[in-house]
Amino acid sequence: MSKLEPYLIEFPKIGNSVQGYISLSEKENLPIDVKRVYWTYYTPEDIKRGHHAHYELEQILFAVAGSVRIIIETIEGKVFEFNLDKPYLGVFIPRMCWRTMQYTHNAVQICLANSEYDESDYIRDYEEFKKLQTSWVGSK
Ligand code: TYD
Repeated sequence: MSKLEPYLIEFPKIGNSVQGYISLSEKENLPIDVKRVYWTYYTPEDIKRGHHAHYELEQILFAVAGSVRIIIETIEGKVFEFNLDKPYLGVFIPRMCWRTMQYTHNAVQICLANSEYDESDYIRDYEEFKKLQTSWVGSK
């Protein structure tokens, strides 16, 4: 698998249906060195968020409640779709991926990120992303 492809991560679960569950990850089991965490909630169901890529940022997204459907287009031109519908699932998003996310009304998405917020790391223009993709694919 290319380092530029997203993938699902299934985190361990402790517990049972009587007592409930804990999911966790030790730092060394995460694919990124976490520098920032943020969370997204109360997103109306007809709204799609995202619509951007990052030059360098890598992230892990979880839906700790509700579900989040994520469509990811990589710089290599591949498209992936994930439905985060269980609290123990996460998706790793590498750099240079265009993403859109849609949420159920009760969804709470947590994002772990490997750097501080930096607007200059965003690619917010899809045409710009497609140009970068064309030159990336052409250079391989
Ligand atoms: P954005 O990353 O575009 O959110 P989404 O991908 O969910 O649509 O961020 C939305 C706004 O919030 C944008 O104005 C930047 C701001 N923001 C910060 O100031 N700091 C942060 O850490 C994040 C994630 C966003």
